[in-house]
Amino acid sequence: MFKEEERIKINKDAWNIVAPQFFEGSFTNLEYGMYAPSEEELNFLGDLKGKVILEVGCGSGHTLEYMARAGAGELFGVDLSTAQLESAKKVNSQFNIPITLIESPMEELKGVPRNYFDIAISIYALGWTVNLSKTLSNIFDALKPGGVFVFSWEHPVHSLLEYRDGKLVFKRSYVEEGYEKHESWRTVSIVMHYRKLSTYINGLIKAGFIIDQVVEETRIPENDTGEPNQWYSAEKARTLPPDLIIKSHKPDFNIG
Ligand SMILES: C[S@@+](CC[C@H](N)C(=O)[O-])C[C@H]1O[C@@H](n2cnc3c(N)ncnc32)[C@H](O)[C@@H]1O
Repeated sequence: MFKEEERIKINKDAWNIVAPQFFEGSFTNLEYGMYAPSEEELNFLGDLKGKVILEVGCGSGHTLEYMARAGAGELFGVDLSTAQLESAKKVNSQFNIPITLIESPMEELKGVPRNYFDIAISIYALGWTVNLSKTLSNIFDALKPGGVFVFSWEHPVHSLLEYRDGKLVFKRSYVEEGYEKHESWRTVSIVMHYRKLSTYINGLIKAGFIIDQVVEETRIPENDTGEPNQWYSAEKARTLPPDLIIKSHKPDFNIG
């Protein structure tokens, strides 16, 4: 058993080591996941011109770069990892709009203004939280009334299944939630949390969000002949969704 602060510390140390493995990124399109429909198709964020946007778990900064190029008015990126933020700083040094990078766990969102953002986004980062309800409340508080929150994460069912001898097999229970310390994830020790789809949905509802759309669709390129044994593969994606995307918003209390 590790306390929340201990899990955050383990993951911070881990992300500082593995960060360079995640420095590559595309700013020409906003991708929600390897086999997920892109923002170009979903249009969940709408026109970004002049928008004030918070990215939770901004990593190496390529999504911030995409949003700056798309005309965002002000950007905040929060991440646990010093190494990831160093990359985000370099990647975004070319822009003239205010870009604030904050080193903080998303469970705290230290120094992030409240009732300030038009949009909050989190791509493949939210599931790293050690406290989902605290994190969702922080994001809710940061948004202006009417503000939109979109996140993507590995689909909770995808996380449970792996290929063994040509078959997809469950390697753990779906119904038992919790966390596990992996000793050699990409060479480091890291703590991963397992949550059901309903936990994300109910977490959003409990934090006060209104859910607009849940996406489990896949987009598999015809020429993808990837190795089925890989963690993300077309073969696996034909059976279950690798990615989960949820669009929600903070109610506009002034209306209705
Ligand atoms: C898979 S990367 C995704 C980064 C970026 N959103 C992207 O799409 O490239 C996950 C990021 O979450 C960050 N992270 C992990 N746990 C976190 C936490 N508790 N609070 C804030 N950031 C966290 C990691 O440092 C890492 O940069």
